[in-house]
Amino acid sequence: SDNKSKSWHEAHQLAAKLYHHVLTVSDEGKQAREYLRGRGFTKEVIDHFQIGYAPNSWEFLSRFLLKRDFSMEEMEQAGLVGLRDSDSKAYDKFRDRIMFPIWDRQGKMVAFGGRVLNDGKPKYLNSPESQLFNKSDILYYFHQARPLMKKKSEAVLFEGYVDVISAWRAGIDNGIGGLGTALTENQAKMLRRNIDRIIICYDSDHAGMQATYKNGQLLRNVGLEVEVALLPDGDDPDDYIRKHGSKRFNQDVILQSVTFMSFIFEFYRKGKNLQQEGDRLTYIENILQEISQLSGAVERDHYLRKLADEFSLSLEALKQEQMGLMKVAE
Ligand code: GTP
Ligand code: MN
Ligand code: MN
Ligand code: MN
Ligand code: MN
Repeated sequence: SDNKSKSWHEAHQLAAKLYHHVLTVSDEGKQAREYLRGRGFTKEVIDHFQIGYAPNSWEFLSRFLLKRDFSMEEMEQAGLVGLRDSDSKAYDKFRDRIMFPIWDRQGKMVAFGGRVLNDGKPKYLNSPESQLFNKSDILYYFHQARPLMKKKSEAVLFEGYVDVISAWRAGIDNGIGGLGTALTENQAKMLRRNIDRIIICYDSDHAGMQATYKNGQLLRNVGLEVEVALLPDGDDPDDYIRKHGSKRFNQDVILQSVTFMSFIFEFYRKGKNLQQEGDRLTYIENILQEISQLSGAVERDHYLRKLADEFSLSLEALKQEQMGLMKVAE
């Protein structure tokens, strides 16, 4: 009911306030403060993103919320506490973690992502999904970035909370993040309703490349113009900004983004030796498949020429083969 969801948001808001307070002023938050300072989080950033710290206690939040007349059931449904099997007593789910509030598209706080300070597992603990927190409908920072993405008709999509935050510091105010899961059609459509063009800027590891390919197709299929901003091997956006600064991130990464099709040409090259006949033929097949999926005839022609030029092939033969693939796809 509306009442239930209201108290649910309230519980999150109160929790976030409390966690923020612990992080910014308390003794218990000192280690977390130092951790974040070491990673370059300024006070401005910590305030803007309402970042907090959940202390290492089993009943810090549950006690606080009980005093505010929230029932154990409400807290449990909100995903903030668990109930012990033995006696149904509540315990805090988030302990000793940096807390990133997550908002829905209306700007209501609906969940948390909690990061360990060191190398513990899991690195990020996200609120469980529930009736009110549906991961497939939510993108991190969407509610704030929305007016700015609309104005530019463009957004930048990152993998993690920290990347969105570092990029924001670097002046990218139309950045949003996934929640560690594959992008959904809902999220893609939610973006399409606001923008025409999206730049994917994921981690430059194997997982990041695979996700760029997969999510890029999804975003293209809802009608977005997709570009890809590539980082040097091994870096994620936050690593890059810390190493090279904001100016270079904007000039050498974001402004140098390539078309999704150029990314695909590179993507299929990875791990192949194009001097070898077998690899070369596989590569050409892969690219022809991709060209077949393009909707515009001019675009298809452009990339067929590019492929023909690169491998000194006859354009006619490529065209014929590609048309065969399109028939199969129909
Ligand atoms: P830092 O290590 O703090 O810089 O974070 P990161 O954003 O670089 O993390 P990473 O690239 O490993 O993951 C990207 C995103 O995937 C995170 O922001 C989370 O949303 C999600 N993620 C990462 N690790 C986990 C995990 O252990 N569990 C869950 N549920 N999500 C995770
Ligand atoms: Mn503050
Ligand atoms: Mn990653
Ligand atoms: Mn990362
Ligand atoms: Mn990172």
